[in-house]
Amino acid sequence: MADIGRFIAPGVRSRGAYHVPAGEPPIKLDAMESPYRLPMELRDRWLHALRDIALNRYPSPEQYERVKARLARDARLGPDIGIILGNGSDEILQNILLALSPDVTVIAPTPTFVMYEQIASILGRRFVGVPLQEGFRLDVAALRDALARHAPALLFLAYPNNPTGILYPDDDMRALLAVDDAAIVVDEAYHPFAQASLMGALGRAPRLLVVRTLSKQGLAGLRFGWLAADRAWTDELEKVRLPYNVSTVTAASVEFALDYADVFADQAARIRAERGRLYEALRGMVTVWPSEANFLLFRLPVPGSAERIHGRLKEAGILVKNLAGAGGALTDCLRVTVGTPAENAAFLAALAQAL
Ligand SMILES: Cc1ncc(COP(=O)(O)O)c(C=O)c1O
Repeated sequence: MADIGRFIAPGVRSRGAYHVPAGEPPIKLDAMESPYRLPMELRDRWLHALRDIALNRYPSPEQYERVKARLARDARLGPDIGIILGNGSDEILQNILLALSPDVTVIAPTPTFVMYEQIASILGRRFVGVPLQEGFRLDVAALRDALARHAPALLFLAYPNNPTGILYPDDDMRALLAVDDAAIVVDEAYHPFAQASLMGALGRAPRLLVVRTLSKQGLAGLRFGWLAADRAWTDELEKVRLPYNVSTVTAASVEFALDYADVFADQAARIRAERGRLYEALRGMVTVWPSEANFLLFRLPVPGSAERIHGRLKEAGILVKNLAGAGGALTDCLRVTVGTPAENAAFLAALAQAL
């Protein structure tokens, strides 16, 4: 293989690519996807809505503006709040980091969504992880201290957090929003499964950016995310966004999906109810943390058994996420996405067997 090392940035060379396991397991509970597809009748309507798209044309500004206006209306955003569209919220996170001045330190409580650190590292940004406390609670004092020490700093908060599922308390969020001079990205990827949002605080918090995605509510294949923030932010981020990052097919599908918000809300409610049942069942077998997202993090009772149990589940046709390799607070931990009642029952039976 050619020696190209000196062409590649150290932050890229030192990392592995984000790994997506190949194959289609019969029961896929590793990536926080919704187990529910669009109802058949809606699929036909969706195909009909796509029929007249001009695929020979680039997406138009009008189409993007329509999507943004619709998102702003549904989220009741005021006129001072702007929106940026993304090819998944991953791309939004990347655009935020691309736009940052080199002297800004990126901070996040850890463990959290790996892409904050992954993208920061690839872009050569300084990243500081502040460990969560016992029970995966925020260490607000340590975070405030880190934000002050590394100012100017930008804090990523997944709310609820991945991979823990924990929704941080209002008081903690208020305390962090009050920190002078820090920018805070609240990543609400799991919003459909939590009963809380900081979207309503946007008009009062000029350094708050709120990120959402449609991925977790049944549209992961679409790749669509968005950000809302004071227009001072979105005017800058708009310069970083590639001109046609959201395809015409995606934009039209989003417009379609927003018309059927009730269908997705209903699916999310079923997942929340199932999450409660799964939590109760897991509690009898392993250490499991309460979750406000569409997944549950749990620790196996036998130290060092994660690889074996993960493999046994896989043999039974069930794919969950093995987080034990991350070590630290995630030692011996697996994460399971909430599936359909039948999938969850199969998972519980296979786990009981494997244990
Ligand atoms: C907290 C969080 N943010 C963002 C994402 C990225 O989602 P997407 O790029 O599909 O919008 C994920 C995906 O797992 C996530 O857990």
